[in-house]
Amino acid sequence: MTQELTTPSPAPRAPAPRRGSGWWRDAVIYQIYVRSFADSDGDGIGDLRGACGKLPYLKALGVDAVWLTPFYASPQADGGYDVADYRAVDPLFGSLDDARDLIRAAHDAGLRVIVDIVPNHTSDRHPWFQDPELSRQRYVFRPGKGERGELPPNDWESVFGGPAWTRTERGDWYLHLFAPEQPDLNWDNPDVHAEFADILRFWLDLGVDGFRVDVAHGMVKAPGLPDIGRGEQAKLIGSQVLPFFDQDGVHAIHRSWRQLLDGYGDAHGKEVVGVAEAWAPSAERLALYVRPDELHQAFNFPYLNATWDAADLRAVIDASLDAMRPVGAPATWVLSNHDVVRHRTRLGGGLDRARAAALLMLALPGSVYIYQGEELGLPEVTDLPDHVRQDPSFFRANGQDGFRDGCRVPLPWSGELPPYGFGPGGSWLPQPADWRRLTVEAQTGDPSSTLELYRTALDLRRRLPGLGDGELSWQPAPKGLLAFRRPGLLCTVSLLPHLVEFPLPGRPLVSSAPVTVDGGSAVVPGDSCTWWAI
Ligand code: GLC
Repeated sequence: MTQELTTPSPAPRAPAPRRGSGWWRDAVIYQIYVRSFADSDGDGIGDLRGACGKLPYLKALGVDAVWLTPFYASPQADGGYDVADYRAVDPLFGSLDDARDLIRAAHDAGLRVIVDIVPNHTSDRHPWFQDPELSRQRYVFRPGKGERGELPPNDWESVFGGPAWTRTERGDWYLHLFAPEQPDLNWDNPDVHAEFADILRFWLDLGVDGFRVDVAHGMVKAPGLPDIGRGEQAKLIGSQVLPFFDQDGVHAIHRSWRQLLDGYGDAHGKEVVGVAEAWAPSAERLALYVRPDELHQAFNFPYLNATWDAADLRAVIDASLDAMRPVGAPATWVLSNHDVVRHRTRLGGGLDRARAAALLMLALPGSVYIYQGEELGLPEVTDLPDHVRQDPSFFRANGQDGFRDGCRVPLPWSGELPPYGFGPGGSWLPQPADWRRLTVEAQTGDPSSTLELYRTALDLRRRLPGLGDGELSWQPAPKGLLAFRRPGLLCTVSLLPHLVEFPLPGRPLVSSAPVTVDGGSAVVPGDSCTWWAI
């Protein structure tokens, strides 16, 4: 049964007064996928100390905050998104002291820290799931269908493929929207609410500035757990309200967390934020997660999924801004993350297109997410041998986003050969033999490098007043080109495959590819983006 798409009115409650500096409204947030960022101890797996050592790099890059993917105690059935203890650091990544040091060092460097919180499911090794009594109450168990209960309770499919139910030895079934090692929590149980409020406070006390809420659209399931009645459910995610995704009931949880975050922030003189990872079927439904009394930001997956096409991009930018305006939340922009094919490869136009897409994104009003390595122009690694792969969606049919290891290959920092300074040992996934020109070391100081392009653009974004927040105004442009004004600049984007000439709009500030200025004309290459001073 697929539910009707209903959109409750966007701002039914009075807007909350603006608190604090609103640092997050235009923040550039750098995603650290911890196991692939930097390794300090030589086991080939990135860790918190490794990340700590790279904070000066991030400061120099010009970002405002980091988001750390889960580093909690976990059997690592899904890269740490299967948490066994939310208050402990997995020894793979270090210790609680390392987390404390990292948060302190980031703050000393003027960077804020956002950590991941995984409330839809735990690991099957979590003590609650291990306890036969507790697990019955705090997870979603149901008897099976069929004469002997041998069939799953309903037709839901796991996002990673296959049925969303696994039968226990006792004969009943438990729900897991992801891997069988990730049982879904029962958010009808007040103990679950209390536990997560306590976990949030635990990390707030350690000093974090916010939470990225994993599967923020999934915690509440439709009463009665109705069948969907159609196969290929993975294709429906994000285009429909499903009985397990984007149920209206999730908003009560986000409202309670907002109260907790605001209360904590007020008491400690800071502003702590929540960021929703929510796959909603429309920009309007996504905006519901960032109403004034809910979370602060939501990832803009429609933007990530837009094709390299002028009309498509303009439409998705307008839809994003239009949807956020009534709720007063900033739009967010993202091109890559640890779940999708890196945009250099995904957009299909190689490095030129990736650089143009990045410069366009950095000119948009709102907050930006940068996934580690995109500032180096890293491509997706498409030829990993099967025996090194670890993504559970690779091992179950019909993965959500294809196979997610190719975007998680450890970063190249320096040197000529793997592991390119990633750490003193190897790297948990093999790095390509031809990445030596992509290292941080090779790109630093080279004005034509992608790293320096990001640095220049981020520096300008800080220095041009008003560039981060506010509105944009589209300007007339020939077919295949986009042009819009922002405070202090005009941004032009060519989505054409060839050179194009137009009247010189101003002085070039930064460009993703060389532009030629000839008298009163500008000539820009295909697949390029330029910021012009006006
Ligand atoms: C989110 C994470 C993804 C993870 C899934 C289950 O989508 O980004 O990596 O597999 O949640 O926790």
